[in-house]
Amino acid sequence: MSNPICDLFGIRYPLLMGGITPKPELGAVISNAGGLGCIEGIMQADGLREAIQQFRTMSDKPFSINFPLAQGTPEMTAEKAKVCIEEQVPVVITSAGSPKMITAQLKEGGIKVGHVVASTYHAQKAADAGVDCLIAEPTESGGYRGEHDIAMMVLIPSVRRTVPDIPLAACGTVADRSGIVAVMALGADGVQLGTRIMVTKEAQSSYGDHVAKLVLAATDTSTMSAEGRIRPRISKPDFAEEVLGTSSKRTQMGQVSALIDEIISVEDLFKELFEGGPELARNVVAKFDEIAQTTPVS
Ligand SMILES: Cc1cc2nc3c(=O)[nH]c(=O)nc-3n(C[C@H](O)[C@H](O)[C@H](O)COP(=O)(O)O)c2cc1C
Repeated sequence: MSNPICDLFGIRYPLLMGGITPKPELGAVISNAGGLGCIEGIMQADGLREAIQQFRTMSDKPFSINFPLAQGTPEMTAEKAKVCIEEQVPVVITSAGSPKMITAQLKEGGIKVGHVVASTYHAQKAADAGVDCLIAEPTESGGYRGEHDIAMMVLIPSVRRTVPDIPLAACGTVADRSGIVAVMALGADGVQLGTRIMVTKEAQSSYGDHVAKLVLAATDTSTMSAEGRIRPRISKPDFAEEVLGTSSKRTQMGQVSALIDEIISVEDLFKELFEGGPELARNVVAKFDEIAQTTPVS
């Protein structure tokens, strides 16, 4: 038996890094740890080529480029897709737009394509466009959650039922072993993480200090939906004012920030998820065993 996401991308652990920074250093750390590191492809084509080449000086492992499709013109996106093909990027993950735009071009160029979806309707459209992997982003996550506010508990099983045969990653809302066990139980094959990775030791040089301060201070009520079509989840202005003394530093972050209270290393994050996860899953099985052995009160 093997994991569909690991098989598809040629990685050790089914952990995808979200498109959380255009700098390649953090992605290289994640790829070297056995996940799929990512470069957020929000720059122009030349800058993208440079970032890919820089990544390769730090890691020879598979990685992805993330394209939020709503950003820039279709011509700019097509130009960047061309760069990915020329540079033989292994994986592109698209989001916030129609996967029809570049999926065929990328696949013809030998690239594996994942697409981020926030509903079953979009999951079906992505499957029809020929994507290799779905990344299902619920309302709790720090990313582009679409317009329907669908919770993880409903989104993952629904997408799984709608499109049963495509590898599926649950996007966000995972900080520790309980999160990964939960999304696996719902039917995901793996996870894509943003907020938890942003607050690792190795991530700190990629962000301003305010990011870790906000995530570490956050509680379950500290985030909200931004306005607009793609509606990323962000820190609330009054919460930022309280923590930083200014509300001007809007930070994209998931509800899972409520569960993050220390900066850990990437190595410890992988241990927590992939050694802690199985341990917790065994405890869950033990709970069911206890239920089975409980004598009913007559
Ligand atoms: C700071 C930040 C920037 C992000 N930028 C993008 C982006 O450019 N494209 C994208 O598809 N997702 C983006 N996301 C979403 C992440 O890729 C990922 O799906 C999300 O963070 C997962 O949820 P979590 O933060 O709860 O782990 C961003 C998330 C954060 C926190």
